[in-house]
Amino acid sequence: MKIIAGNWKMNGTQQQLKTMISDLSSVETQNTVILCVPFTMLTTPSDKISLGAQDLSRHTHGAFTGQISAQMIAETGAKYVIIGHSECRQYNGDTNSIVRQKATNALNNGLIPIICVGETMDEKQAGKTMAVIESGVRESIPSDTSTPIIVAYEPRWAIGAGLTPTAAEIADAHNLIAKTLSDMGLGGTPILYGASVKGSNAAEIMSISNVDGVLVGGASLKSDDFIPIITSVK
Ligand code: 13P
Repeated sequence: MKIIAGNWKMNGTQQQLKTMISDLSSVETQNTVILCVPFTMLTTPSDKISLGAQDLSRHTHGAFTGQISAQMIAETGAKYVIIGHSECRQYNGDTNSIVRQKATNALNNGLIPIICVGETMDEKQAGKTMAVIESGVRESIPSDTSTPIIVAYEPRWAIGAGLTPTAAEIADAHNLIAKTLSDMGLGGTPILYGASVKGSNAAEIMSISNVDGVLVGGASLKSDDFIPIITSVK
């Protein structure tokens, strides 16, 4: 059983989400299917799949115009929230320490954070991939939690680029994340792979050691692309 999570980013409409939920309702699967959608779609009714947000405020409440708190997301009925996505690290200045604060807020409000780590192309070329992944895990993830979390490895250079690391590179990254989580007392935490996942590569990626599922961007927007990923694994 795997976790198949979609990240719609700033795409879609409420009607498109209703259509997707209806298309997914007839899919036979044991996998956990999650769709992380824009805040305005979080109250859309969905029985078979769970909805999640894509970010939240590092603050609990107060004079932070335009921001959304963990409590507000939880009130919508959403179960998950992506935190520290590479686009939030790149465009909104999220650092490991901010990601950790956001994850703590999510956990305090009963949300399951999907915490993202991964290296940029510059870091990869400088041979820093493993160091960036390990510090990302150690510094972004609150270890003093008994509430479940999910970690996503997203090589930042591969997102939306049609590029994927080799199977050996994915295995190295996921094995390091699993070992680091275990050192932190968080052994057994599911680890998703995300970046350019499609129906044609999903099964192979999910057969790699310590890959417990995928976080899918572009290919989660249309059911014709998303359903083959969901049904590619048992
Ligand atoms: P793509 O699947 O479009 O590469 O996006 C990956 C991603 O950022 C998921 O969070």
